Amino acid sequence: MEIKNVTVLGAGIMGAGIAQICAQAGFLVKLRDIDEPLVEKGMSVIKKNLTRLVSKGKMEQDAAEKCLGAVTPVVDMQEAAKNADLVIEAILERMDIKKQVFADLDKFTPKEAILATNTSGLSITEIGTATKRSDKVLGIHFFNPVPVMKLVEIIKGYETSDETISTAKDFVEKIKKVGIEVNEAPGFCVNRILIPMINEAIYVLAEGIASAEDIDQSMKLGANHPIGPLALADMVGLDTLLLVMDSFSDEFKDSKYRACPLLRKMVRAGHLGRKTGKGFYIY
Ligand code: 3HC
Repeated sequence: MEIKNVTVLGAGIMGAGIAQICAQAGFLVKLRDIDEPLVEKGMSVIKKNLTRLVSKGKMEQDAAEKCLGAVTPVVDMQEAAKNADLVIEAILERMDIKKQVFADLDKFTPKEAILATNTSGLSITEIGTATKRSDKVLGIHFFNPVPVMKLVEIIKGYETSDETISTAKDFVEKIKKVGIEVNEAPGFCVNRILIPMINEAIYVLAEGIASAEDIDQSMKLGANHPIGPLALADMVGLDTLLLVMDSFSDEFKDSKYRACPLLRKMVRAGHLGRKTGKGFYIY
């Protein structure tokens, strides 16, 4: 199946990045969120990223305009879904909401459309049950910041067909990312390793072993990470980290996945990282 029209649901930081790289690769993109200000915010993120590429001499001005022109902001779900060959959902990490959205997509998209979720760790198989085409439901998981990070996880749910995986692999190649095929499991591959590492760094801070700056410095200079785990926590969002740790804990029933109480406390205080201006650092 040939993909031409891509619909991205959720115009947050991930959705905007996904829409941008799809448009850059020549796809016609609809970017949908639940109200006008949210979609416009996503569009302005794309515009800012493209302007940065132009100012660095990495993209021509007309190419940037063409790219922006290829993204249509949409609020109406039916409008967003019609004509889509591929939908990539990047909304809130809540199973109940995702299932509702996938049930709507099943109604409003063409029968052959592939429905993907960018979930950080929720079950693709369970999301698929909200549709009558679980063979066409899969995970296409991007990393933040989407325009920079090379990897995409292509995740196979229990009922995802080989044909769907193969179409997704072709798509991932076209958007110039490197795809790895992963069988569904909590956290898939990257988050299963990365999120407990960040959680452990929060324990190191909470136990007074080292300061936030020194923890980050230690992993940058001692393990060659591009940024430290606490700076990365602020980038990913503490609420997302907590959701992922709690889902590991629920799924594995293993105490090694216990979210650090300091992480939970900070989320309760509304210190979610960059998006709220305050996390382990002030922005
Ligand atoms: N959007 C677009 N481009 C961006 C960007 C953004 N938000 N942030 C940085 N960039 C670009 C810069 O423009 C720059 O481009 P250039 O090389 O062409 O000049 C390049 O990235 C490097 O940026 P900087 O020099 O400003 O800063 P750094 O060298 O610190 O790099 C970084 C920034 C690439 C974000 C780097 O810090 C990094 O790799 N961090 C780790 C990111 C990571 O681990 N992400 C995964 C998070 S987990 C996840 O997303 C999964 C989810 O399910 C939880």
